[in-house]
Amino acid sequence: MPAGLFTIHTFGCQMNEHDSERLAGLLREAGYEPSPAPEESDLVVVNTCSVRAKSEEKLFSLLGRLAFRKKRRAFRLAVVGCTAQIHGERIMARVPEVDYVLGPESESRLPELLSRGIGKAVALEQSAAWRESEPRTVPRASPASAYVTIMEGCDNFCTYCIVPYARGREKYRPARLVRAEVESLVRDGYKEITLLGQNVNSYRDPEGGLPFSGLLCDVGSLAAGIWLRFLTSHPKNFGSDLIAALKTVPALCRQIHLPLQSGSSRVLKTMNRGYSRDDYLGLVSSLREAMPGLELSTDVIVGFPGETEEDFVATLDVLDRVRFANIFSFRFSPRPMTAAAGREDDVPLSVKKRRLIELQALQKGIQHERNRALVGTERTVLCTGVSKKGGPFFCGRDESHRVVNFSWNGAVSPLHRFLSVRISDCGPYSLRGEGLGFSPA
Ligand code: SAM
Ligand code: SF4
Ligand code: F3S
Repeated sequence: MPAGLFTIHTFGCQMNEHDSERLAGLLREAGYEPSPAPEESDLVVVNTCSVRAKSEEKLFSLLGRLAFRKKRRAFRLAVVGCTAQIHGERIMARVPEVDYVLGPESESRLPELLSRGIGKAVALEQSAAWRESEPRTVPRASPASAYVTIMEGCDNFCTYCIVPYARGREKYRPARLVRAEVESLVRDGYKEITLLGQNVNSYRDPEGGLPFSGLLCDVGSLAAGIWLRFLTSHPKNFGSDLIAALKTVPALCRQIHLPLQSGSSRVLKTMNRGYSRDDYLGLVSSLREAMPGLELSTDVIVGFPGETEEDFVATLDVLDRVRFANIFSFRFSPRPMTAAAGREDDVPLSVKKRRLIELQALQKGIQHERNRALVGTERTVLCTGVSKKGGPFFCGRDESHRVVNFSWNGAVSPLHRFLSVRISDCGPYSLRGEGLGFSPA
């Protein structure tokens, strides 16, 4: 008989997705089981994101629905993660049905609070050093792809960003624990490992000083024959040792997420990004030289305070020059505590919207053109699931993280395996093709 049934709702980035997996592992160890139907849960956890105002609006609308449900059926309600850290007990004041508010570094205490029968709690610890709180087994969302956390927090204080307040200062996980986790994932047959952190390339092993480039080489030797990625790296921390490491780690996918934010040096300065437009473009050239065939993706913010039409055109120009495989683009959203929140949010909403549409239209054309160039080629794909159309159509990702939908007539399921796909067609956001057979990574 389980201690109870739980459901976790997750908002936000990959860090949060992985935190939810780990929390699910800790809850299972405490005797809880995932609920087959959310409305039958004895415990509902909401893992939250604060990066834009919209993320918080979605949270409060979900909490409203959960509070209504709680009037008809009793269950425990926990709000964990970044918004918990930012708003603390104010969440309980606004939604009294919430039982626990636990920040990212406190959420692993949830099983203990439940077992001790503590009815209401707010915990918002932020520590200076790494604290390991892994369950014995992490129930990962995919049996093929795994996230491995190497660091937490951020010291960069980009003027728009709430993450340093939500996640605290940078804390690095000992390299021996990272290596042990990667080894066990490889043993368990995982095909893709992503090293995770807000700023992975500022990593330094707290027990020996090994930099990120060294960790990557170590992990790369353990991950031979599978795909290795890292997320997110900051352009200002991409040193020559790391560029050199790209050449020596065969497991590394030729794909890097390299947030640009703006193509205007003036805006980058007011964002406190620590690089200019020319630094960024120079880095892109060095990376492409070190790793031929490298594909880049990025993040862009439009409508940052003071962004002129000229600044915006400079961003479009960088997109034109770099020709990213994919971008994530956002309208600036003022966040509490950040330096930019003290500045006038002077770009009108209509201008922000127009700029976002223009940027996305430009990128759509670039992506479509780049995808068309792949028609007729064969790509190695890691199959991640059955396509929305159902079998015999499947979907997956190629090395550059493009979505690939493909037909498959083999007798053995391609799920969670590498295979070769001949690309026959494409749209701006995906490739389509025919699975030819299994292949090495
Ligand atoms: N550490 C990573 C980095 O340096 O880019 C990721 C940070 S954040 C979780 C992901 C993206 O959200 C950022 O790259 C940025 O483009 C966007 N973002 C952060 N704060 C924002 C804000 N106040 N308004 C709009 N977009 C924001
Ligand atoms: Fe936020 Fe900047 Fe840190 Fe990324 S590097 S998490 S954008 S403060
Ligand atoms: Fe959001 Fe926190 Fe990630 S604010 S983007 S969940 S680090």
